[in-house]
Amino acid sequence: MPLPYVLLSAAVSLDGYLDDTGPERLLLSSPADFDRVDEVRASVDAILVGAGTIRADNPRLLVNSAERRAARLAAGRPAYPLKVTVTATGDLDPGAHFWHTGGDKLVYTTDRGAEQAARLLGDTAAVVPLGTALDWRALLTHLGEVRGVERLMVEGGGLVHTQLLRQGLADELQLVLAPLFVGDPEAPRLFGPGAYQGGRLRLVETRRIEDVVLTRYQPTAPGTGADPVAADRHWLRTACELAAQCPPSETAFSVGAIVVGADGTELARGHSREGDDPVVHAEEAALAKLDPADPRLAGATVYSSLEPCARRASRPAPCAELILRAGVRRVVTAWREPDTFVTAADGTGVLRAGGALVVVLPELAALAEAPNRHLIKG
Ligand SMILES: NC(=O)c1ccc[n+]([C@@H]2O[C@H](COP(=O)([O-])OP(=O)(O)OC[C@H]3O[C@@H](n4cnc5c(N)ncnc54)[C@H](OP(=O)(O)O)[C@@H]3O)[C@@H](O)[C@H]2O)c1
Repeated sequence: MPLPYVLLSAAVSLDGYLDDTGPERLLLSSPADFDRVDEVRASVDAILVGAGTIRADNPRLLVNSAERRAARLAAGRPAYPLKVTVTATGDLDPGAHFWHTGGDKLVYTTDRGAEQAARLLGDTAAVVPLGTALDWRALLTHLGEVRGVERLMVEGGGLVHTQLLRQGLADELQLVLAPLFVGDPEAPRLFGPGAYQGGRLRLVETRRIEDVVLTRYQPTAPGTGADPVAADRHWLRTACELAAQCPPSETAFSVGAIVVGADGTELARGHSREGDDPVVHAEEAALAKLDPADPRLAGATVYSSLEPCARRASRPAPCAELILRAGVRRVVTAWREPDTFVTAADGTGVLRAGGALVVVLPELAALAEAPNRHLIKG
């Protein structure tokens, strides 16, 4: 089961602060932007904040619009999204608004924090211990598999946003820039120091809302291991969509492929039967656009809607071999090759035998298959 779509939402001052150090919460958004936030809340299954935000701001995190709540109910959803918090200590104020407004409440914590949280909260909230330390991937897996959450909005604070972004678990960042300064080094920042993805994020939207500006970004850097990150899903989805550009064929699959550097830079893309070549494969077309000596290939990931071929009649080397020869050591694919043209092709096996890591995202298989339905038996 795929992890929930994770949307980080925050407002910052011009100098990058989430708040000041005063006792009251600093209002950064404008009234129309608070309404936009309400709309986003109404669209998600769950809203998460760190325990620090509950202690500092005492937020309610509601869908305030009666129309939006009615629309949720009409769609068979609860009026309010599930409210979720994380704590290691279990040090939660049972009198906070968070517990006494809105829908169901859920606390993720450590084995140690669970005792304290359960003692303080009684049956106000479900308390889920996740071991000696809180693992975000385990938390998101639990939210998806046990609570059926497909879309999660994270409303801070900085510690939570920083971890989710750095661990590659955030699909999107919705950032509102407010026209004021905080100027206090003691105030909380949106993102703390540490290692982030090397390259640029993808800007997907900018919108003026009264005197604030909403910017939406997507992380771009591929994962480095077997666990897929949010950017892997994005790139693979784009590769699957690229397959729709292939000239139709009754004798070959339609496939899209993208080569992405470790810092999230797109190096090349290709699709089946690209240009004037009726037999070229997507991965082959993409790799042909790159200098074989390009040092970025060693850290790159190849996204291919269909697993790279293991055998082919039309060229001396199959794509799995071309990828290995290019020095690429990570491949992300959606769909294992069916027996339509080659029996038990297993390009994944060839790549793995050659030392490459192959990650399969079955949640995108239907999208990869879509332009090839006429070629799939049964
Ligand atoms: N401008 C905005 O959009 C916005 C939005 C939200 C918040 N804020 C501001 O942000 C500030 C709060 O941010 P913050 O960074 O201090 O707090 P935070 O991120 O809301 O919460 C941090 C707390 O969450 C728990 N936590 C986080 N990661 C954990 C992990 N991996 N395992 C277990 N527990 C974990 C810990 O709770 P325990 O300490 O209980 O163990 C930790 O102290 C406030 O000033 C608030 O006003 C601003």
